[in-house]
Amino acid sequence: MNIGGYALVTGAGMQSFSRIHPTDRPPLTSLRSGIGLTCAQRYAEKNAADVAFADLDLRTAERAAEESLGLMTNPDYRAIFIRVDVTQETDVEDMVKETRKEFGRIDHAVNCAGVNLVARVSAKAKGEIAEQTTADLDDVMNVNYKDMYYCVRAEINAMKEQEPRTVSPRDPNRGVTRGTIVNLGSLAPYAAVPGNSAHGTSKHAVLGLSKYAALDAAKYHIRVNYLCPSWVDTPMVRRMLDKRPGARGDIERMTPMGPMAQPGEVADVAIFLSSPKSSYVTGVG
Ligand SMILES: NC(=O)c1ccc[n+]([C@@H]2O[C@H](COP(=O)([O-])OP(=O)(O)OC[C@H]3O[C@@H](n4cnc5c(N)ncnc54)[C@H](O)[C@@H]3O)[C@@H](O)[C@H]2O)c1
Repeated sequence: MNIGGYALVTGAGMQSFSRIHPTDRPPLTSLRSGIGLTCAQRYAEKNAADVAFADLDLRTAERAAEESLGLMTNPDYRAIFIRVDVTQETDVEDMVKETRKEFGRIDHAVNCAGVNLVARVSAKAKGEIAEQTTADLDDVMNVNYKDMYYCVRAEINAMKEQEPRTVSPRDPNRGVTRGTIVNLGSLAPYAAVPGNSAHGTSKHAVLGLSKYAALDAAKYHIRVNYLCPSWVDTPMVRRMLDKRPGARGDIERMTPMGPMAQPGEVADVAIFLSSPKSSYVTGVG
């Protein structure tokens, strides 16, 4: 399935790992992929014209963009890399402006930048609601919700301005598109667990944001969807497993499929949601 077009992916940096648990499978060499990186690589493989790799860590974004040159299928393919802190409104606005300046348009955006909550948010915010302060709640909402809000708003504003394109030349009845947006969420809006109200509420908020943004954007022929995987074998999760090796067994007991998903299994769904094959899918979480 070819996608074509111009893509912007946040959280697309390529990380490397030096410390891996001896029982880890797959081994070290395939462990550099977060979900964002894998999504961005898929665009390169699926005939995208250009891909913007955006990440908090410019070095990892540059490495990812460089390596994508070995994956591209479009002879005119270009990869750019951008430093962004998605929790900063002006950074997000600048990222979208820079991508549009370089590519002329943004056909697909995947908002995948993720933070390690343990590092960024106070321990209390992960506890019972009765023990929390408003500052704890604000902390989680800033990290989990507002960054997504900034991205979706800036991307819709950019897409609104661009000329619509035919969704599928082979099936003109599918009409036109100005762009697609996929937000990466989590299982939290669907499975409440005790002691996690701030985080869970913020993820519910992103589900709401995705649905309402989809309704507002539909008239401009822009689709917005929310992808909610459970556990995915990425550097973020590996870092957590390094600290709590027993957690792997708990995850596998809770996961119907057993082992965690591979990033590519999630990226393939993100690609489907930005492809003509999902032309009538919007506001879905
Ligand atoms: N891994 C999972 O099990 C899982 C499950 C459900 C949802 N998710 C969500 O998917 C997204 C990606 O997760 P992942 O597991 O691939 O994480 P990851 O840590 O492997 O990759 C996240 C990337 O985001 C970048 N990043 C972090 N903070 C940033 C910021 N402020 N601005 C810009 N970039 C930033 C990091 O540098 C990194 O490259 C996250 O939103 C996460 O919540 C992950």
